[in-house]
Amino acid sequence: MQPVRCLRHQPGPGQSLNEEEENSIGRQYTPLDVREIDWNRICWEKRKRKSSPSGNTAYWDKRAPAFARNSSKSDYSEKFLRLLELKPHWTLLDMGSAAGTLAIPLAGRVKEITAVDISGTMLALLRERCAQRGIGNVRTIQGAWEDDWNALGVGEHDVALASRSLITEDFESALAKLDKAARKRVYLSTIVGDGPHDRRIFRALGRDLNPGPDYIYLYNLLYRMGIRANVNFISYQERNTYEDPEDAFNHLSAKIELITPEEEDVLRAFLNAHLVHSEGKWVMSYPRKISWAVLWWDKE
Ligand SMILES: C[S@@+](CC[C@H](N)C(=O)[O-])C[C@H]1O[C@@H](n2cnc3c(N)ncnc32)[C@H](O)[C@@H]1O
Repeated sequence: MQPVRCLRHQPGPGQSLNEEEENSIGRQYTPLDVREIDWNRICWEKRKRKSSPSGNTAYWDKRAPAFARNSSKSDYSEKFLRLLELKPHWTLLDMGSAAGTLAIPLAGRVKEITAVDISGTMLALLRERCAQRGIGNVRTIQGAWEDDWNALGVGEHDVALASRSLITEDFESALAKLDKAARKRVYLSTIVGDGPHDRRIFRALGRDLNPGPDYIYLYNLLYRMGIRANVNFISYQERNTYEDPEDAFNHLSAKIELITPEEEDVLRAFLNAHLVHSEGKWVMSYPRKISWAVLWWDKE
């Protein structure tokens, strides 16, 4: 962290600085304009260093069944849903919808939902879950932030939301697309600090945890883009729950980029020490506080 710089000579009440002192302070304290900082580049640099792999379709296709099982039961979706102010005649774009963490509970609250995701497996699960529940107002499009949204037929919606799904290299272009797709309001949620990542596991492996750009970088990027976002925070305590130790191992090792056989042994030992059997499930012995930021803005 940069040390706080102090004025060598502070004028007392009734005193003023001479010209030389004024110039010297001016040189030291050239005001920084946050809009001149290339936040898009900084977001990308942070994303490149991210510890967990989350960039490709195959990764999300593989995670789809477990993600669908767990995410709809989480405190996150309950709290996020409570923040949304929607009207029954509105249409909604859910970008990076996964298997419908939000699209399924929201289907009854709006007229129509367009769910877009890079993973065909996530979308197949979403369609299956809609069919099981008799939901007929969710259409799916397989596509990515990087794609041409006109060619995909994403269209314009009253509300555009992206929940935990801004996974891209060019954040500015993705945010511009999301903003353009909304007529009335945009909701975007992203990590605060470590987000859902478990720092203890990375420490046990002797690795640094780089969770990627958190909300403050995106907030500044939006500001640079001329968007002054509102911010709400969602926080809760979570204890990860698994079917058995092998399920825990598969789930957690998939989140570690290029895990080595030695690290796999360390992870197994860590799980051996920290997983406890409770009511037919395997639960981590320690709870973690997880926080997300919801950035939202009105279009007018
Ligand atoms: C962490 S999940 C979040 C899903 C859901 N919105 C939620 O909050 O539970 C991230 C989702 O983004 C999708 N995704 C990842 N990269 C993407 C990209 N470049 N374009 C579109 N979707 C992407 C993944 O397939 C996955 O379904």
